[in-house]
Amino acid sequence: METLTKRILPPQHRRFPPTDESKLGFGDIFSDHLFKMDYHDGQWRNPRIEPYAPLQLDPAAMSLHYAQLVFEGLKCFRRQDGQLGLFRPRDNFARLARSVRLLCMPDFDQELALTALRELLDIDRNWVPRSPGTALYIRPFIVATEPHLGVRPSNDYLFMIITGPVGAYYSAGFAPIDIYVEPQYSRVPPCGLGEAKAGANYASSLYAAMEAHKKGYSQLLWLDPCEHKYVEEVGSMNMFFVIGDEIVTSPLAGTVLPGVTRDSVCVMAEDWGLKVAQRLLSIDEIIEAGENGRLQEAFGAGTAAVISPVGRLHYKGRDIVVGDGGIGKITRRLYDELTGIQYGSRPDAHHWIMPVK
Ligand SMILES: Cc1ncc(COP(=O)(O)O)c(C=O)c1O
Repeated sequence: METLTKRILPPQHRRFPPTDESKLGFGDIFSDHLFKMDYHDGQWRNPRIEPYAPLQLDPAAMSLHYAQLVFEGLKCFRRQDGQLGLFRPRDNFARLARSVRLLCMPDFDQELALTALRELLDIDRNWVPRSPGTALYIRPFIVATEPHLGVRPSNDYLFMIITGPVGAYYSAGFAPIDIYVEPQYSRVPPCGLGEAKAGANYASSLYAAMEAHKKGYSQLLWLDPCEHKYVEEVGSMNMFFVIGDEIVTSPLAGTVLPGVTRDSVCVMAEDWGLKVAQRLLSIDEIIEAGENGRLQEAFGAGTAAVISPVGRLHYKGRDIVVGDGGIGKITRRLYDELTGIQYGSRPDAHHWIMPVK
């Protein structure tokens, strides 16, 4: 394993993180340093931490043309005891490794990436915000850099990790959202890149999301790409429905991202003795459950929002009200438990939190 080198800004050249944390949004502010590592001649080389700066990239770099790029998203929390904690970071690097394989990119040393991330966070620890609900968002990503315009896997890559403070998702309070159920477009094809966190999947979601936006919906629920019948996931969240005594989420059958939050929800619900089913769930079954009063709760689960209650679904001109349209008991319990574990006010029975140092 090559050793990690560091070029750290002297204190007088460091920037100041925003002081008004109530105005932190998502994804516009970046910390002082980043991690980089090159892949060249069949080997990952030169892992390093250096000051955040624009890249020099050949205009023919293959990622810019054929979207051979993968990424991850996770958070670092400033916890009640003042320590910095990462939430299940090994799961994110393991998912990145699976994405890499699907995109024909070279495997990487997950432990090295995790060590580098912890070093980076230690250097930029003052960028981790302090206000309730805020966090430092972490974006590892790998892009093809070889200058070449023939369609094939690149020979060269750049692995990077950037970070930046993000605001509380529920600055106006934990509130149910309305969701548009997409009847026509698909996020990913069957047997494609659906289970990878590949930039291409997000590009192909934009058009339908924009159309839903015009109709007044900020979130869109995808149905399966073959029959447009079974619910899959929302833009950046996995979905759960509480029907009768069962908590249902779609199975991981290739078109759905295996969310770390999704897995955490399944584990916690099972710990509490609740019945969790990973099974196909048709939109017709949801409509019927809505009509006969069995659709009690619905929520999304993902790194950004943690748990997002759904009050109403809109499908082909009709509205399906979930429960009484408010926040369900299980939804609230999961949100409280998960954020409690992340910020350190509840016990971490599954050892999901990894200290930065
Ligand atoms: C398409 C998609 N589904 C689900 C998720 C939720 O995954 P996680 O809980 O790992 O953030 C995300 C966010 O990463 C996503 O982009």
